[in-house]
Parts: sequence; structure tokens; C-alpha cells
Amino acid sequence: MDALIITGGRRLTGKVRAGGAKNAALPIMATSILADGPLVLRGVPDLADIRTMARLLGLLGVKVERKRGGTMVLQSAGRSPKNRAPYDIMRTMRAGICVLGPLVARRGAAEVSLPGGCAIGDRPVDLHLKGLRALGARLEVEHGYIVGSCQRLRGAEMYLGGPFGSSVTGTANVLMAAVLAEGTTVIDAAACEPEVQDLAHVLVKMGATIEGIGSPRLVVEGVDRLHGCEHRVIPDRVEAGTYLVAGAATRGDVTVDGARWDDLFALVNTLREMGADVERLDGTIRVSARRRLASIDVTTLPFPGFPTDLQAQMMAALTVADGISVVTEKIFPDRFMHVAELGRMGARIRKQGNAAVVHGTEQLSGAPVMASDLRASAALVVAGLMAEGKTTISRIYHLDRGYEGLERKLRSLGGRIRRINMR
Ligand code: EPZ
Repeated sequence: MDALIITGGRRLTGKVRAGGAKNAALPIMATSILADGPLVLRGVPDLADIRTMARLLGLLGVKVERKRGGTMVLQSAGRSPKNRAPYDIMRTMRAGICVLGPLVARRGAAEVSLPGGCAIGDRPVDLHLKGLRALGARLEVEHGYIVGSCQRLRGAEMYLGGPFGSSVTGTANVLMAAVLAEGTTVIDAAACEPEVQDLAHVLVKMGATIEGIGSPRLVVEGVDRLHGCEHRVIPDRVEAGTYLVAGAATRGDVTVDGARWDDLFALVNTLREMGADVERLDGTIRVSARRRLASIDVTTLPFPGFPTDLQAQMMAALTVADGISVVTEKIFPDRFMHVAELGRMGARIRKQGNAAVVHGTEQLSGAPVMASDLRASAALVVAGLMAEGKTTISRIYHLDRGYEGLERKLRSLGGRIRRINMR
């Protein structure tokens, strides 16, 4: 198993480029099931989750070709009888659930394993089922599988808000089904995340009619068929945000090429309130910090609020901020796996329900730590870069699910980081 060794204490300086967004690419890949022609995607990151989704689509009768330079061509075999998404794949990647809507809408049949457990907490799919049932799909949960069937779906009006707000992949699933339903669908409390917007733009390129993209009310006029299209996936705001946080946390000067200001404004605002300088320059975002950052209260919320996928990295930065910060998690109330590991590095954090109180200390000290999920791992990397001495992060396969070329990019910014095989 691989591990990362980081020798901390260096300011990160320079420029890195954000890759294509994993969480946009995954549902967009699933739209290939809906289209009659090929889907040509550019800027698809080379990540473990993307390869898993490609394997899943392959099992569902989609021919997936990976070309050079981040291009992927996906062509579905139309009404293929291969409609089973097995547990073996679904337990490793929850985004596999995004094939449910397309399978039901295009093929009238689906057998999709419920996804497995998850380190960031409970992750139900009731909103996915609610929306698809409203469109007329018959869905039963049998032996751990969602078994779906329908004739043609029919447009409907629905409310998709849950106890923690809207659902990103829930909205994606229902939207992908509604575009082929007969008549008008209104999705209220739709997720507004940039990844959902990107998906909607792809569907429109395929011939769908969707109004309200980016708003919490999506209005869809169903069409009979969709055709193939070409699309460049948006840059990954979480990857970009991670480098911006690392830049500020190491009191460095980092520019992220491709980072989209509007997608990251909650982070920009937070970093500024902590005392960092953040500016927007020709399609890049630059952060610099000369002094110790100030403490701040951060609450995660659906977009455009502060993203839960940057909560752990921000908490790492706050462990050495001046003063006391309160980090409240309103999307996944149990997403605090990083707290104990940061504690091993000298962080003073007290968890209280869905919040963590962080007492800033002067300096973290390097330690052996263990990655538990994707963003918690990224937080440990940020902490390792700031800490005095050596940090060894084991179980980094989590990082490989979401950060392409992490060591290369951090080394180009002056970080001392290398990968070793721990066998
Ligand atoms: C997406 O997960 C992302 N994954 C997550 O990224 C991200 O953390 C999350 O959205 C929130 O932004 C992908 O896009 C592949 P949700 P998703 O449904 O869609 C509750 C990462 O690190 N809920 O928006 O599964 C749920 O429990 C990951 O890249 C229901 O109650 O998240 C949570 O509290 C991890 N019922 C809230 O809604 C449902 O049917 C938001 O979850 C669905 C969700």
C-alpha cells in the first residue's frame, strides 16, 4: 500500500492547474446511456472513481474509450439488456447511483445495488427514489438492489428538499430521467451546485429542454430522443480550493489556473476574512498570506454556501489560526474523521455534535496519520505541509480517488512530498 511522506514547513509558491471536476464528470458519463449518438468528453480527470464509472458503464453496455489528453468517448448500445449495476462496484463508489435515472428513462429497466457504507456518514437515496417514482417509475428495494421498471416516464411536479437541503446526485438522477419523460417536469429544491449545472448543460447540448439551470427550480420539457454531443468538463472547484487553502495555510503565494471565481466565492470570502489576499486574474485565482491567519467560524451549506468538500481542508488550516474557530457541518453531520488524526499532529479540536471547536495553536508537528476518506486525506496533506517535521500519511488510495497528480502539483509549488510503497 502506498503512503505519502511530507516534510512540512515550506511556503507553497507558484502556479498549478485545476483538472476537470470529478463530481461533474461522473454523472455526465452516465448521460451516455440516454443518448443515441456518441458522447465526447474533454477534460476528464484520470482518477480511480472515473475508471470505476467507466467499468460500470462497460457492464451496462456502454463502449468507453479513453483517448489521450483527458478525452473520453462513450457510446451506448441503445436498449441493451445489460441493466444491472452490481454491489461489487457500487460499494466502492457511490456515484454509481447516477446510472439509475438514465437506465429507467432510456431502457425501462434497472437493477442497481444500493451503494455501500461511507466514512462520511449516512448517505440515503430516498430523494432519488422519490423523484423517479414521481415520474412514474416502479422502484422496489429487493435484496440490496433497487429494481426499477417503467413504460415511458411522465413529467411531474416534485419537491426534492431533504433534512439537509437538496441532493446533488439526487437532482442529477431525476433530471437525467425527466429529460426523456413525456411532458413537463418541475423539480423544486433542486441542487444548484456547479456540477449539476454542468450536467444540465450537457443534456441541453444533447437536445433536452431545461429552464432554470443553476436555480433551485428546474423546469424540463421532455423530448423523445437525445443525440450525442461534445463537452468540456468544468474545472474541479474542490481540487482548486484545496490548493488555495494549502497556499494560504503555508503563508505562501499560490495561483490556481482554471479555478472559477463564482464557483469558489464562499471560499474566497472565508480566506479573505481570515486575512489572506485573494484576487481574480484572467481565469485564475491567486491567494497569498504573509501573516498568521485569523480564526473564523465556518458553516457548510449547499451551493453557493461553503462546500462540505472543503470543510476538512479548511479545518486543517484553522488548527494554526490565531484564535478559536467553530466549524459547523450542515450537509454531513458526521463528517469529522479528520479530527482525531489532526489531533495526532498537535491540533486542539473538540467535536460537539455537528460542530468542531478549533483552538488555534502556533504549530503542528509531523506524525504518522491515516487517511479515512477523500477530503479528510486532503486535510492531512494540508496539515503535513504546515507542520514541523515529517508526516507519513497511510491509506492514500482515498486521495487517488479525487486528486490527479497531487504530489507532482505540490512539488511544483515547492512542497516536499513523495510517495512510498509501505509493503
Ligand atoms: C455529492 O454527493 C458529492 N458526490 C459529494 O462529494 C459531496 O460531498 C456532496 O454531493 C455534497 O455536496 C458526487 O457528486 C459524486 P447529496 P451526494 O445527495 O450527491 C442527504 C467528495 O468528496 N440526502 O447532495 O451523495 C445526505 O445524507 C464527495 O467528492 C438525503 O437525505 O450528496 C446529505 O446529508 C463526497 N436523501 C445531503 O442530503 C437522499 O436521497 C446532501 O447529500 C440523498 C441525500
